[in-house]
Amino acid sequence: MNLNYKSYWRKTGLKGKWGNIFLNKLEQHNPKNVLEIGVFCGVTARNICDFLNNKNGNDFNYIGIDLFGSDQNDEKDEIAPTFLKDQKFSNPLKNIYYNHILKENLNSIKSVNKLLKKYNQNIKLIAGDTNEVLRKIDLKSIDFTFLDGGHSYQTVMNDLSILYEGMKGQNKVIICDDYGKESYIAEVEKAVNDFTNQNNLKLNLIENRFAEIIT
Ligand SMILES: C[S@@+](CC[C@H](N)C(=O)[O-])C[C@H]1O[C@@H](n2cnc3c(N)ncnc32)[C@H](O)[C@@H]1O
Repeated sequence: MNLNYKSYWRKTGLKGKWGNIFLNKLEQHNPKNVLEIGVFCGVTARNICDFLNNKNGNDFNYIGIDLFGSDQNDEKDEIAPTFLKDQKFSNPLKNIYYNHILKENLNSIKSVNKLLKKYNQNIKLIAGDTNEVLRKIDLKSIDFTFLDGGHSYQTVMNDLSILYEGMKGQNKVIICDDYGKESYIAEVEKAVNDFTNQNNLKLNLIENRFAEIIT
């Protein structure tokens, strides 16, 4: 399959080569049901759905969780990447298009639903803090999770504990972003290391960026 991560004229956490490296991981594990924690503007979500649709036709599910502008538990708790701080674009045309013509907040549930409209039968977007909403989700059918939401130690620990509880012993996949030196966040690295050590889990470092955990 020809893997080609598209940006859909929006901002994404997986710029340049990283989009295709991520799609390669999907191809390798071939999941049908994917959870993304931290949807941002929905670009990776859309690429995941394009990929799953290409592979499985209509037989797939995508769940995405994000604050989508709702309050965080504790502002200090979340270490937001700088590109999230506001909706600024280096491309002036994008700035005019989104901020002045559409007046659209690309990190809103409405905007992401619009980007994923083609797949509205297969997707579920949840607005909320994973510290509160993740435990309410039925994880039994999830094959593959992309963990890229709150980047504080406490939130990564919370998310990994709940995910592992729901996926353990089933050979499922958790990919954590911002672990390796290519996009390093110290609290992410520490939480992932502590969690995998405490649970005797093997960790694979992917391209010096992602941590891959097989449950
Ligand atoms: C790095 S961005 C995600 C990028 C996205 N995965 C992509 O590939 O474009 C992180 C996102 O996590 C969300 N977020 C931060 N803390 C969160 C939390 N505690 N619960 C849910 N979402 C959170 C932010 O709103 C933000 O949109």
